[in-house]
Amino acid sequence: MKILSVVGARPNFMKIAPIVRAIRAHKGIQHILVHTGQHYDHAMSGSFFKDLGIPKPNINLGIGSGSHAKQTAEIMMAFEHVLMKVKPDVVLVVGDVNSTMACSLVATKLRIAVVHVEAGLRSYDRNMPEEINRLVTDSIADLLFTTSEDADKNLIKEGLPKDRIYFVGNVMIDTLMNNLVAAQRLNILSKFALKKKAFALVTLHRPSNVDSKESLSKIMNAFKVIQNKIPIVFPVHPRTKKNLEKFLSKNELMKMKQMVFIEPLGYLDFLALMNEAKFVITDSGGIQEETTVLGIPCLTVRENTERPITITEGTNTLVGLNTDKIIKESLKILKGQGKKGRRPKFWDGKASTRIIKTLVALHKQGRLLR
Ligand code: UD1
Repeated sequence: MKILSVVGARPNFMKIAPIVRAIRAHKGIQHILVHTGQHYDHAMSGSFFKDLGIPKPNINLGIGSGSHAKQTAEIMMAFEHVLMKVKPDVVLVVGDVNSTMACSLVATKLRIAVVHVEAGLRSYDRNMPEEINRLVTDSIADLLFTTSEDADKNLIKEGLPKDRIYFVGNVMIDTLMNNLVAAQRLNILSKFALKKKAFALVTLHRPSNVDSKESLSKIMNAFKVIQNKIPIVFPVHPRTKKNLEKFLSKNELMKMKQMVFIEPLGYLDFLALMNEAKFVITDSGGIQEETTVLGIPCLTVRENTERPITITEGTNTLVGLNTDKIIKESLKILKGQGKKGRRPKFWDGKASTRIIKTLVALHKQGRLLR
């Protein structure tokens, strides 16, 4: 079997790493890795290949940034050439970024089977570009691998046939479990002069939070208060950096004495910091899942989440774009009233093995032929 898998943006890399590993454990699979180049900085891409031991992509499309239409269209045009040359049996895509949707569309039109890992997640918020990417990808994929049973229900509600859906667990957690020990060895606290469980960790990058002055100020106003109580470490995404510089004065930022702005971190450094943090404030999808497994309270700066299991079973709380709520929930955690959760089913480090086992079995039965 010839599998071509696709990565494009930062959250894809931790999802593909354990899948590549599981593929390599099978002699009968030929694997081709394609990077669309959606993310291209070392801090957003290269460092993850190094940290996670992902092999150098066989092909890099080098597409880079652009408007949604431009980025998606350029990926599609370049990827079509690749597929016509490589002719894989299966195109495997992960997550919900523009690269995921673009490559699924191209493959399905060339009648190549599409496999979507992390299918069925729904925020039911079509203002999020990722929600559109999820809806399109799932509607055309031949096989849908899900991280939780709520995702299966979403897909069935949308009329997708049950025999295409496989609940296999969370590949992001495979990566976390494969790397936690190495991360713990990094001595990260001394690197940033921090004390165990005595700092908060922040990430922000959603356009709805960082692209307008009003939204970004609402969040930064909460941080102004919280950093008086506990240092806040903030690795800043390139999109957020541009907007912080545009919307807020240097003077204003400098006044926040316990706010530590740093460059985006590599996977191991970030995992190490997250594991030692008192709590996390984020708008990322993956971090909601990782904090649930690490048992660290997570405040999510969004009105909804496509990962509801992190709320019902995990440590996640939605705080919305609400300055008072961000402060109130942070203070609650500082008083020792943070949420304690449990680990969802199949978030056990074996999701990738289940995926590859299923793919091999279905291929043998001829069910991946189009
Ligand atoms: C993308 C994904 C989002 C994911 C996020 C993780 C989509 C629709 N969005 O959003 O789901 O959570 O990645 O980061 O696919 N930039 C750089 N260097 C880079 C990459 C980007 O400077 O290596 C800058 C560019 O100026 C670019 C901006 O960041 O315009 C945004 O990048 P883009 O790929 O459009 O989307 P993200 O906001 O990163």
